[in-house]
Amino acid sequence: MKTIKINLPPDKSISHRVAIFGSVFDGETIVENFSTCEDCLSTLSCLEKLGVKFSLEKSILKIQGKGLYGLEKPNENLDCGNSGTTMRFLTGLLAGQKFDSVLVGDKSLSKRPMERVIKPLSLMNAKIELSENGTAPIKIFGSALKPISYEMPVESAQVKSAIQIASFYSGESKISHKTNFRNHTDLILKEFSKAQKNWKIKIPNDFSSASFWIVFGIANKRNLKISLKNVGLNPTRTAFLKVVKKMGAKIKIKNQKLFGNEPVGDLLISPSKTKNVEIVSELIPNLIDEIPILSILGIFSKGKFSLRNASELRVKEVDRISALTKIFKALELDFQELFDGFEFEPSTNFTQITLPETSDHRIAMSSAILSLLSEGKVEFKNFESAKISYPNFEEEFLKILERNG
Ligand code: S3P
Repeated sequence: MKTIKINLPPDKSISHRVAIFGSVFDGETIVENFSTCEDCLSTLSCLEKLGVKFSLEKSILKIQGKGLYGLEKPNENLDCGNSGTTMRFLTGLLAGQKFDSVLVGDKSLSKRPMERVIKPLSLMNAKIELSENGTAPIKIFGSALKPISYEMPVESAQVKSAIQIASFYSGESKISHKTNFRNHTDLILKEFSKAQKNWKIKIPNDFSSASFWIVFGIANKRNLKISLKNVGLNPTRTAFLKVVKKMGAKIKIKNQKLFGNEPVGDLLISPSKTKNVEIVSELIPNLIDEIPILSILGIFSKGKFSLRNASELRVKEVDRISALTKIFKALELDFQELFDGFEFEPSTNFTQITLPETSDHRIAMSSAILSLLSEGKVEFKNFESAKISYPNFEEEFLKILERNG
């Protein structure tokens, strides 16, 4: 059996955090393996407009931190592009400044819910205005903040991180939540508070990007094994691994180590026979970004696929429940769309079809993997939007395609 090594992008979630923390650090931050995906470039370009100086060569980012009180009033609106993480984190960062600012985003981001972040920040005394329907543009009138004790109504790592970032300017807030969603901010905060003048940090490769190739490795009928190096294996991100292993996936993990406080390891994925299993609702926040590709694996597995309690998918870059059920319809699957998920009976009796273009990176990459697995029946051509999180996805995709002829 041949093994193909796939190159992964650096972790997007951690890159956003490190760029923001490095900007308010009292000294220089040197980041090895920073993601140059479009979303992280949106964060960097906003920070640049706030007076932050940095250099980015290959994937080494050097940031000249301005300290907590050194950011400057921007001369224009801060454009967060397609990135919800950029917008929510920067709202937290800017709420406690001594200047006003405005955050804007692209068409998709301008439709996404922002009250969830404004609500706790307002309790902290932030002065923020949204448009009528609770969306961007976000007008932030810098004000003095106070700490809060907050029980989160929406299980969101982005919202918690926004409160944690705002808390730099208020003193520590107490935040409680029911599930254990991604904890990168807590882990980075530990390093950040210890670092002095020079902060060095190495970012793992992105687990969510790895999930596309994990599914290809599991479901391919071409006798290919997939090898992925230095994959971030933070347990608050890897519920997807738990689920696919329970489905029957053969995955070996080697060379486990730490990059800072973040666990990483190498993965070797072998073709495996899989059956669909229950996706326990407590796991949903830990695999929310992997659901599109998990449902593609579901199509190639035995037994009914059922997803519930995942209505958060409706407010991602696109309504991912609707985008996925459109794919099931195109594949002529027997499916049902539910308000918080969907169900379908797997079948690989595809007729020749071309899947629609999409502006959503995870739907595009899921469609691309589906096309690789369909033995030429399902076509998907335009995965430009993959660059939002995975700049070299097309290159890696072609590597497999050319190998298989
Ligand atoms: C992210 C948290 C998740 C995830 C997003 C990135 C983060 O969003 O879907 O892609 O970096 O904190 P929510 O926390 O809003 O669910």
